[in-house]
Amino acid sequence: MKTEIIYFSATGTTKAIVTAISKGLRGEVHFTDITLPEKRKDAIEIDCDLVIAAIPVYGERIPDFLYDYIKNVQGNGTYLAAISVYGNIGFGISLEQWKRFAETNHFRLIAAGAFIGQHTYASREAPVAYGRPDESDIREARTFAVNIQKKIDTGDSKCPEIPKCTLPGFITKLPDSGTRLLVRQPRINNRTACNNCGACVRKCPVGAIDSETLEISENKCLRCYACVKICPKKARTAGLRLPVLRTVFNRAGMRKKENQTFL
Ligand SMILES: Cc1cc2nc3c(=O)[nH]c(=O)nc-3n(C[C@H](O)[C@H](O)[C@H](O)COP(=O)(O)O)c2cc1C
Ligand code: SF4
Ligand code: SF4
Repeated sequence: MKTEIIYFSATGTTKAIVTAISKGLRGEVHFTDITLPEKRKDAIEIDCDLVIAAIPVYGERIPDFLYDYIKNVQGNGTYLAAISVYGNIGFGISLEQWKRFAETNHFRLIAAGAFIGQHTYASREAPVAYGRPDESDIREARTFAVNIQKKIDTGDSKCPEIPKCTLPGFITKLPDSGTRLLVRQPRINNRTACNNCGACVRKCPVGAIDSETLEISENKCLRCYACVKICPKKARTAGLRLPVLRTVFNRAGMRKKENQTFL
């Protein structure tokens, strides 16, 4: 069996989940990492038996810029296992979007999963999903893959039931840029600490950082924090715009959620 794992992962949690999933599959497994902008220049051609697609949830859905990219991928009847990785707040309409994507792009959806990853904006004061995926999440991701494999082996191509999102519609219709109203841009606060290594420039999923000045384009920045987390000098800092937002955020993500799989 040939499997193509297509994933986006700005801060590594989605990558950890798909790596665990790959360990539960038999046959040839190939990874296509679409995190960096140059990887999304060309359309993906599908030539395998199973596609595993994994994207983090931004604003209770698949981020618009990624949906715009994947909507050009045609399945021609290939099996699809779709995965949303989210920060313990909610996966919103993302799995419903995956289902719609499978229908319109001629994939056979045979599995879906919503896995938890440490929230991008988690901190010591608001430790939402801190340290996740943990060992138990990794085991569950591997078991999910074993179950997908079993389903394929037995010729069971039933489409799983995807739960309906119960959030008010307007929340899931806010633009990607909505996060900018709540989260500050990661500025270099300590110019003397920055050694101009360029790691943040190379890591940005949307090419938002100027390689000369290291300034960030406000209109491009996703607030994904890849640049903050990669900086070896901890020179970039960011945060929520108002202290009260941290309280709201912490409350929303306080109760530990379990991974959910649908087969
Ligand atoms: C702009 C933005 C919006 C997010 N929105 C949500 C959300 O609606 N629900 C949620 O639970 N987590 C949300 N998160 C958290 C991420 O889904 C989560 O941290 C995920 O594990 C990140 O994946 P990565 O490490 O592969 O980049 C958001 C993160 C960002 C950057
Ligand atoms: S500049 Fe914005 S989009 Fe680019 S890595 Fe930093 S937070 Fe993410
Ligand atoms: S990663 Fe940090 S040290 Fe390197 S250029 Fe960016 S801000 Fe400066």
